[in-house]
Amino acid sequence: MRILVLHGPNLNLLGKREPQVYGTATLEEINSAVTALGRELGAMVECYQSNSEGALVDKLQAADDRFDAVVFNPGAFTHYSYALRDAIAAVGIPVVEVHLSNIHAREEFRRHSVLAPAAAGQISGFGPDSYLLGLRAAVALAGKGTAG
Ligand code: DQA
Repeated sequence: MRILVLHGPNLNLLGKREPQVYGTATLEEINSAVTALGRELGAMVECYQSNSEGALVDKLQAADDRFDAVVFNPGAFTHYSYALRDAIAAVGIPVVEVHLSNIHAREEFRRHSVLAPAAAGQISGFGPDSYLLGLRAAVALAGKGTAG
C-alpha cells in the first residue's frame, strides 16, 4: 500500500512559523513520524511539500496511478482553491484533509474548506497527530479499495 502525504504553502516553515498556533514540530519531524507509522501499518509513505498550487495539482493528478490514498494539508489553499478541489474530485483515490490547528475555532475565513466536499473526510486540531490520524484513515480507506 502506498500513501502520499502532501503539504501545502508555508508548511515548510513549521517549527518557527507561529508556534503558538502550529506548535514547534518541524516538517521534517512530522514526515519522520508519518513515515514511521506507515511502516508499522504496512504502508509506504512519500512526503511532498510545495508552496505552489499548480505543483500540488500536478502531484494529485500523478498520484492517481501511483498511490492508494492521499493525506493532504492544503494550508491556506483549503479556503479558496477550486483548482485543488477539482483535482481531488478528479482522482479516483481517497484524499483525507488534515489541519494542525482547529480551523473551525479560528478566524471566519478559515472556518470554511472549499476542499472538504471533495475529500473523504477532514481531521483538524490535533497538531502533528492530525497527520497520524489522517494516515490511519487513509490506510483504512485504501484497504477498502476504490469502492470503499
Ligand atoms: C492549516 C490551517 C490553514 O488555515 C492555514 O492557512 C495553514 C495551516 C493547519 O494545518 O492548521 O497554512 O492548514
